[in-house]
This record gives sequence, C-alpha cells and structure tokens, in this order.
Amino acid sequence: MNAKKKACEETGIYSEEYALSGDTTQEALLALVKTLNEKDDIDGILVQLPLPKHIDEDAVINAITPNKDVDAFHPVNVGRIMTGNYDFAPCTPAGIMELIAESGIDIAGKECVIIGRSNIVGKPMSMLLLHKHGTVTICHSKTQNLAEVVRRGDIVVAAVGRPQMITGDMIKEGAVVIDVGINRLADKTLVGDADFESCAEKASAITPVPGGVGPMTIAMLMKNTVKSAALKQR
Ligand code: GUN
Repeated sequence: MNAKKKACEETGIYSEEYALSGDTTQEALLALVKTLNEKDDIDGILVQLPLPKHIDEDAVINAITPNKDVDAFHPVNVGRIMTGNYDFAPCTPAGIMELIAESGIDIAGKECVIIGRSNIVGKPMSMLLLHKHGTVTICHSKTQNLAEVVRRGDIVVAAVGRPQMITGDMIKEGAVVIDVGINRLADKTLVGDADFESCAEKASAITPVPGGVGPMTIAMLMKNTVKSAALKQR
C-alpha cells in the first residue's frame, strides 16, 4: 500500500485512491479533479507529480479548488505563502520547519542555504525560512562557486535530486543539514543529496535518508487535510 494511503488509515482519515493509467487523457484527469472538487466528503486532493508528458501539469494544478489543495501548489495558495497569510504550507517544506522547530534550532538571523529551486521544495522552503527571519539564499544549477555559498550556511537544505552531491567539505562546522533527496544508486541503495558520512562529521544536526524528511512530508499532508476539514466546519 502506498505510504500516503497507509498514513490516512493510521490517522483515521477516509481516502480514495485513483491509480490512473499512464495514457489517461488530460480531459479525463481534469474531469476527475472536478468531481472530487465537488464531493462533500473529500477535504483534500493530491495529484501525484510528475504527470506524463502529454498532460499539462499547470492546467491540472489550476483545476484543484484552492481550499482542497493540501499540497499548496495552486497559484492562489502559492501567492498566499508569499504574503505569509496561508492555511496550507507545502508538505515537504512544512515538515522541515517542524523538524527544525522540534530540534530547538532558531532560524532568526541565520544563513539559510537552499540547494534547488523547484516549486515543490526550493521556492516554498525559501519563503517559510524567510517568514522565520532567516537570511535565505537559493542555489541552483547555474550557481557559481556552489561550495563556497553552501559553506556560508548555518542551515543547509539539499533539494536537488543528485545523489550525495553535498559533501562534508562544503559544510560549515556546526551547520544543520537537511536532506530532501531520495536517490537510488545502481546497487539499489537509497541515498540523499548529501553525503551523510562526511556531512555528519561537520554538522551539529543532520537528517538521514531514508527516514528524515520523507515521513514528515506525509505527516504534513495529514495535517493539511485535517485543517481543511476543520476550516470547512467554520
Ligand atoms: N511529487 C514529489 N513530491 C510531491 C508532493 O509533495 N506532492 C505531489 N503531489 N507530488 C509530488
């Protein structure tokens, strides 16, 4: 069973799964989203990304009604995250914020370096850290002197999707390293975007892969869904 469905069962959230085939048309997917938008017993809709190439991802995200958009990918919710007035925080960045808070790490004034600029992680992560008064830098494939920039980071979030590319020599002594990557090596082992062994030697705290950020993402999906249901009651 997929991890999201299992989490719903464990938390007592009713769920429906539609495992559509890869050749499903955009029209059929949009029709399903519309049906779920209108279904009273559904409070959260998640369309698993990435979608097949023949489907316009933006069109599908835009079709989800913002108050059921528990991923917070709809432009209305993205805009609300920018302003700081939002109901749903995107799940992966929200899970990371929980990990930081629960670990007693203060963000205010800290150098926060994010590697990766995706709509799912890098960009919203930058906003959540900024709201907590971090000094935020977003790095990407065109960043010059990446190692130098990462070495400034008190909090480093690796979300590029390249196995073990962040190495200990790029980490400042005592930094917090958060690894969003889930990469499978040729021998099938799962590794993150950070090289755990060498980064752990420098870091004051580091998340493992698997088991660090991933479970938090699903927990935040449950949280957003419960919040959506609660907001509907008002
Ligand atoms: N694909 C990878 N991460 C995510 C996520 O957080 N939400 C959705 N819908 N798809 C994803």
